[in-house]
Amino acid sequence: MRERRFGRLGWKVGEIGYGMWGLAGWTGNDDGETAAALDRAVALGCDFFDTAWGYAEGRSERILGALLKAHPEKRLIVATKIPPKNFQWPSRRGSSLDECFPPDHIREYTEKSLENLGVDAIDLQQFHVWEDAWADDERWIRTVEDLKREGLVRGFGVSVNRWEPTNVVRTLRTGAIDAVQVIYNIFDQAPEDELFPLCRELDVAVIARVPFDEGTLTGTLTRESTWPEGDWRNTYFVPENLAQSVDRAEALRPLIPDGMTMPELALRFILQEPTVSTIIPGMRKVRNVEANLAASDGRALADGLMADLRTHRWDRTPTSWSQ
Ligand SMILES: NC(=O)c1ccc[n+]([C@@H]2O[C@H](COP(=O)([O-])OP(=O)(O)OC[C@H]3O[C@@H](n4cnc5c(N)ncnc54)[C@H](OP(=O)(O)O)[C@@H]3O)[C@@H](O)[C@H]2O)c1
Repeated sequence: MRERRFGRLGWKVGEIGYGMWGLAGWTGNDDGETAAALDRAVALGCDFFDTAWGYAEGRSERILGALLKAHPEKRLIVATKIPPKNFQWPSRRGSSLDECFPPDHIREYTEKSLENLGVDAIDLQQFHVWEDAWADDERWIRTVEDLKREGLVRGFGVSVNRWEPTNVVRTLRTGAIDAVQVIYNIFDQAPEDELFPLCRELDVAVIARVPFDEGTLTGTLTRESTWPEGDWRNTYFVPENLAQSVDRAEALRPLIPDGMTMPELALRFILQEPTVSTIIPGMRKVRNVEANLAASDGRALADGLMADLRTHRWDRTPTSWSQ
């Protein structure tokens, strides 16, 4: 596993981390397989784990807590998130700080996460939704500073809402935020425009999430894909989104070099961006862990291929189903 610097926090982190939403929150989980996948990731040098209280009300955090306990010899970096107080994802324009992150709520959920994780300090605590309109409200900044001073949190981050990579730029300028988590993949290239230059300027770490566009960029979905009742993907991959997403993924197939898979291509595209500190693919299976972590070998994609992939940029704006 190759390492990158995690912004001004200065940590060295594996460039491919572990997204822990699906393993406690999506349908189709096998806890034994999940545990094996997590252990395999640690054995292969993965050391950055992204979870959230909101992933099954602390269950994903507790799974990470068990992993930390099982590997006391390793320095595993823990990133979790505070749910908005109104439990609505994403926040809406006009949502207030009081509805989402009043100071007592930030503290309460930090304490809950500390307990679920079984740690004395959280490496990276993130806001699970965000509105840049809150940038100037000093209450959240004071709470962030207090939690850091008390040693309960080492760094603070914002996980920006889907397809809103600039809905954080004024907030970053406050200096209170150490890391940004943003959707960045072959389709979603917009963070390169404004967010990444600002992160470089301020030395804010970038966590690239949803590298496979929630599954589209693995090349395994079809226009007929459905998920078991209760799986959130039924409400995200509505017919309009599924058809377009599958068609766009299929359009990439001719570009995949011999011997490469679409997920590998998707990860290598992101690895090419030096502003990214770590990528967090969602994984539940040992074979996916092995395949994804193997992409961290320092081999670059050819310039011509990168140029072709850039033309597959897909700018989207939030809609009623995008969540
Ligand atoms: N608002 C937020 O802060 C937010 C929102 C979304 C995600 N996240 C974070 O970002 C992480 C990643 O996003 P995500 O999990 O939603 O989506 P993703 O990483 O784009 O896609 C996950 C899907 O890809 C599949 N997959 C992974 N590796 C594969 C491989 N090598 N071959 C074939 N399929 C493969 C997984 O399979 P299986 O189904 O078999 O596991 C899963 O269905 C999350 O786990 C979470 O930590 C944060």
